[in-house]
Amino acid sequence: MPLLTLHRIAKTYDGGLAAIRRLDLDVERGEFLSLIGPSGCGKSTALRIIAGLMAPSEGAVGFAHGRPEIGFVFQEPTLMPWRDVLGNAALPLSLRGVSRSEAERRAGEALRRVGLAGFEHSYPRALSGGMKMRVSIARALAAAPQLLLMDEPFAALDELTRQQLNDDLLKLWREDGLTVIFVTHSVFESTYLSQRVVVMTPRPGRIFDEIRLKAPPGRTESYRLSAEFSADAAKVSQALKLAMQEGVETAHHNRNPGPV
Ligand SMILES: Nc1ncnc2c1ncn2[C@@H]1O[C@H](COP(=O)(O)OP(=O)(O)OP(=O)(O)O)[C@@H](O)[C@H]1O
Ligand SMILES: [Mg+2]
Repeated sequence: MPLLTLHRIAKTYDGGLAAIRRLDLDVERGEFLSLIGPSGCGKSTALRIIAGLMAPSEGAVGFAHGRPEIGFVFQEPTLMPWRDVLGNAALPLSLRGVSRSEAERRAGEALRRVGLAGFEHSYPRALSGGMKMRVSIARALAAAPQLLLMDEPFAALDELTRQQLNDDLLKLWREDGLTVIFVTHSVFESTYLSQRVVVMTPRPGRIFDEIRLKAPPGRTESYRLSAEFSADAAKVSQALKLAMQEGVETAHHNRNPGPV
């Protein structure tokens, strides 16, 4: 039984902008799934709907075993500048009424797991972009989520830092049996990380295609350099190109002169 099911999800924002036309998707427990698609196709909207931060206009999100604990990692690390690293990572637990000592104990453990032991009392301004993102991941992990939603978390990082965080994320995913839905614009990142890549059309988004990747989970640097990786990335890239064309055709058919 899937951990979650998106059933005919559509979203039109107040004001009439259609962001998502239709999403039908089953996500298996323990799966690492990437959502890829052009800017504005509704990826962040989909994550917010899955997280329950926003209601869909149509359709429903179903959870097979009740709503799991959900962690959300945003594109921007969104740290509170006046709280230290430990205070930031503990914040969601504190807001839920977990005692300060318990919240800090769990946050401290999560910080160790993302490689930030020793930085508990640093302030965000003293951290690199990659370290801030690690704090943001620790903050999501501190509540021991079963489902981790990540919205282009590494887009702003340099390539090597991004690759390092990709590897660290795969390790966390394996260790915790997490289910991850990972939004990215990067063909290579989605190919490296995922068991399945779901490709969306331009806005209003719908699922155009999905590619199951056969490389074993728990990939390492050698996969990144393999012919298999190049072939997998080419498949994802091709699907994305076709999805973009689909959007162009749809826009053409529904041509509306719009404001001049
Ligand atoms: N709160 C909102 N009110 C109105 N329109 C919105 C709102 N949030 C997003 N949109 C619009 O909905 C569409 C989808 O936005 P969304 O942020 O989900 O796209 P995205 O796929 O995440 O894009 P990107 O890759 O650039 O992050 C966009 O056209 C956006 O302008
Ligand atoms: Mg987005």
